[in-house]
Amino acid sequence: MNIQWYPGHMTKTRRMMQENISLVDVVIELLDARIPYSSKNPDIDELAKNKYRIVVMNKCDLADEKSTAIWTKYFEEKGFKVVLVNAIKGTGISEVTNAAKELMKEKIEKQKARGRIFVPIRSMIAGIPNVGKSTFINKYVGKTTAKTGDKPGVTRGKQWIRIKKDFELLDTPGILWPKFEDKEVGLKLAFTGAINDDILDIQTMGVEFINLMMSVDADCIRKRYNIEFDSIDEPHEILAKIGEKRGFKIRGGEVDLERTAKILMDEFRGGKLGKITLELPEDIKNMNERKAEEEKAKKEADYKRKQEFKKK
Ligand code: G4P
Repeated sequence: MNIQWYPGHMTKTRRMMQENISLVDVVIELLDARIPYSSKNPDIDELAKNKYRIVVMNKCDLADEKSTAIWTKYFEEKGFKVVLVNAIKGTGISEVTNAAKELMKEKIEKQKARGRIFVPIRSMIAGIPNVGKSTFINKYVGKTTAKTGDKPGVTRGKQWIRIKKDFELLDTPGILWPKFEDKEVGLKLAFTGAINDDILDIQTMGVEFINLMMSVDADCIRKRYNIEFDSIDEPHEILAKIGEKRGFKIRGGEVDLERTAKILMDEFRGGKLGKITLELPEDIKNMNERKAEEEKAKKEADYKRKQEFKKK
């Protein structure tokens, strides 16, 4: 289930997150390895600023390995411990405990030197909806105790799951709100299924997805659907080619673009187009630079307009 995020919703969730974060030493932030930037809530850095931080790149099985390595370096350079995970299979999950222990090493040693015999590490999982928090916790704990489904924030009666003798996890994950300010970020969240499909009609989504894939890896589309196209071809024409190839027709013989787009998105989400990462750190830099330029141009235009108005 997806949830829509309204300002009131976010304020309440932020308060709950703040409350829960204050109880833990380590925040384990789950990201979708296919969209590490777009699936990262920027406010978590402020919320968890005094905590030890682990970035879990989940759904690694669906992401391009080279791109995952680039993102790992990017986050490591920003000071995060990074763990690559496939929460369905459970790969990488056990490394999370080790990463937390490593981060806490100095603090634990200091406390032990002061005479404390037992220093437990308390942690929590956080991430936007659908990033795999419940799957991760279920696998981490080893049985299906964590509830699936989306609930904003964390349950009131705090429950701790003991993973190891000295490692505890808050039983319910902190759900972060996805960020929608940028169109590109919103689209990528929609492509991966992180936000409700109702936000965008499926045909537009399919066309926008093909548009992005033209710069990410157009060959994935060519190969999967056994079609030919040029990089300058219009995305909606490519969508029609896919539908035609699959024989999706509506009455009158026209291509059923809606069905085609739905299949395309389902196949991408299911990994059938291949291992695909939709963004790289350099794309984000370009996107932010473009945004800054647009804002500057807008300000200049506003200024000019005001000056001309004054002259009149
Ligand atoms: P959440 O608690 O953060 O909201 O996410 P949840 O665990 O419910 O996982 C969301 C979807 O992502 C689930 O698919 C789950 O199986 C899938 N998933 C989680 N981790 C991984 C991973 O490492 N690799 C892959 N390939 N998939 C993963 P679903 O049950 O089909 O849900 P939905 O997509 O229909 O919402």
